[in-house]
Amino acid sequence: MNELASRLRSHTKALHDAVEQRLYTETMLAGQLTAEQYRHLLRIHYLFHRDLEAAIDRHPDFFDTYQPDSRRKTPALLADLAVTQEAVPETKSVGMRDWSVDALLGAAYVSEGSMLGVTQVGPMLKKNPAVTSLGDNMHFYAGYGADTGHKWKAFGQLLSKVPTERHDAVVAGAEAAFQRYQQLFTETQVTSEG
Ligand code: HEM
Repeated sequence: MNELASRLRSHTKALHDAVEQRLYTETMLAGQLTAEQYRHLLRIHYLFHRDLEAAIDRHPDFFDTYQPDSRRKTPALLADLAVTQEAVPETKSVGMRDWSVDALLGAAYVSEGSMLGVTQVGPMLKKNPAVTSLGDNMHFYAGYGADTGHKWKAFGQLLSKVPTERHDAVVAGAEAAFQRYQQLFTETQVTSEG
């Protein structure tokens, strides 16, 4: 593992575990995720990725080797929102529009890492009647499938090219991206069904 990848992993481990816990993992493992909790997860992931993808699109040269079109998650999330008859959510808080390219690269690390997470979460979700009742209709949580390893490796190679003096900014971006997940969790939570 290259130096930046290894720093990202060690510096954000606690933040990862906190987000993982917050996103209903225990409930999911117990097979008790409700339809509303699943829709809540979709709202969080959608708003995070909508902002990230829009911000990355503002820097096509910097993100050329990232190949943004091959890593978009919003099409899958829009499909999932439609399947669950959930309106496309909005948020009042400011997203990542003004983040630096280095910070966005850190956020992209969080987004790409979440595709490793879904390889664990996808099978967990299949134990939850609220989700299995939707049929074979999970798009975001299907992740990259057989491409997961290849895409993660390619992302790691991209990180290995970042000059050392920029590492701090990338790590700070990843930390802020994990915090953005926490913020979106609260913002998109509804206290009662419907
Ligand atoms: C219930 C939810 C989740 C579980 C169970 C989970 C589990 C995992 C596991 C097992 C790995 C390591 C995979 C490997 O090394 O092959 C991983 C990596 C990662 N996950 Fe998650 N994850 C979850 C949610 C998320 C979410 C929502 C995000 C983003 C907000 C995320 C970001 C990451 C990142 C960035 C890595 C890469 C760590 C590294 O640098 O190696 N995960 N996750």
